[in-house]
Amino acid sequence: MLDRITFDGPVILGAGLAGLTAALAAAPRKALVLSPTPLATGCSSAWAQGGMAAALSDEDAPALHAADTIAAGAGLCDPAAVALLTAEGPAAVRALAALGAPFDRQADGGFVLSLEAAHAKARVARVGGDGAGAAIMAAVIAAVRAAPSIEVRENARARRLLQDATGRVVGLIAEIDGALVEIVAPAVILATGGVGGLYAVTTTPAQVRGEGLGLAALAGAEIADPEFVQFHPTAIDIGRDPAPLATEALRGEGAILRNAPLGDKNGRAFMADYHPAKELAPRDVVARAIHAERAAGRGAFLDATAAVGEHFPHEFPAVFAACMRAGIDPRVQPIPVTPAVHYHMGGVATDLDGRTSLPGLLAAGECASTGVHGANRLASNSLLEAAVFGARAGRAARDLVMGGAPLAAAPTPDLPDSALQTLRQAMSRDAGVIRDADGLSRLVAVLDALETVHGPAPTLVAAQLIARAALARQESRGGHFRADFPATALPERTFVTLDASDAGLR
Ligand code: SIN
Repeated sequence: MLDRITFDGPVILGAGLAGLTAALAAAPRKALVLSPTPLATGCSSAWAQGGMAAALSDEDAPALHAADTIAAGAGLCDPAAVALLTAEGPAAVRALAALGAPFDRQADGGFVLSLEAAHAKARVARVGGDGAGAAIMAAVIAAVRAAPSIEVRENARARRLLQDATGRVVGLIAEIDGALVEIVAPAVILATGGVGGLYAVTTTPAQVRGEGLGLAALAGAEIADPEFVQFHPTAIDIGRDPAPLATEALRGEGAILRNAPLGDKNGRAFMADYHPAKELAPRDVVARAIHAERAAGRGAFLDATAAVGEHFPHEFPAVFAACMRAGIDPRVQPIPVTPAVHYHMGGVATDLDGRTSLPGLLAAGECASTGVHGANRLASNSLLEAAVFGARAGRAARDLVMGGAPLAAAPTPDLPDSALQTLRQAMSRDAGVIRDADGLSRLVAVLDALETVHGPAPTLVAAQLIARAALARQESRGGHFRADFPATALPERTFVTLDASDAGLR
């Protein structure tokens, strides 16, 4: 028997922007935040470089932002969710500024707004060039630390959702400082981020690997669009795991993609071969172009020597530092780049207040699928989504009351590191930028074999969801490209629910 604690407020899994915003919004209700790492070090939000997109200028409007979001989403966005996101966007940015997030300002106090790919207007509010995520998280963490209603436990993660006899989520088994404990609560809010750590090359923290998605699926929650994984085109290719990011804003400033270093007479700027918008083409198009150049034995280099040059240290300090640590001076040298997993459009299906298909279970941020991103997320809509829908989920959890007694349940298995590395290699090889039936079938066989040995670990279940949905979707759309089905043909979202009695996906 595990020790049992009863907590009279939502338990929030994850301490990125969505989780902490939910905790603040739940006040005056108590909230317990479980964070796998010390606050700020381990969440993707703190690593975001570009900024937050919102219609903040006189030349812009939420409807224009919505149109760009829907165009990027390649036919699968939920228009109501997009309308809400873009309408609430300006207030969400101002609320973070009021908490102390030091957004870059014009002389007249207005926001400095940048252009990024597939945005019709300059609408990305930045901090210190490429430091938006870290600065926003610092402000939010300070507010959380000062909030009397919020308790934070670090070095804590969930090992299973607890359910009552009706299927309602009534708490979870947590592992805190290595000890297992049952926490019974009126609501659980999943804010566990994406799936980057399921892949060998990722821009996200390594421990972000679909655990919330897997836990929710194992409890029988509906999962939406798991096959839609976004590959950032320009991770810095210096053999680091995770790979540092070279923000999209560099291409917004005029940086050019070349297929050889400067001075190589065979090298050329290649994006015109792939899309009329060249470097400002949608993210999935640029990622496939870079993949194709590399697959053809050429290289991919982001050349900001003319567009940014001497201003690099001041305008893009995080990218500059990452390059210099690797011996590349981006003021005078192009940056070697590779596509890397960056964001999961799919996730636990929710309504506009973060409610999942299971009573008592909510989800917000990257681990949720509200329908705002469709098949491909527009740049700099992720922090925005975390802030808008994190707040809505926190408010929705305020009034929830305790459910029934939890049924007896054992913690889900953990995947040993050697198995995780096998999984990551297989996911990158077969569920990457370019997919086909042969590769995806091979991947499913690898995952089935791992599951036979190790059982339904949540990370393994998340990988299975991605692989099987990618195999089932016989078309290409947004972040999902099938070499064997290159046409865009099936405009329906994917919804999957595992039988709660099913051990895994087979
Ligand atoms: C970037 O700065 O390129 C990433 C922004 C985003 O993923 O929205």
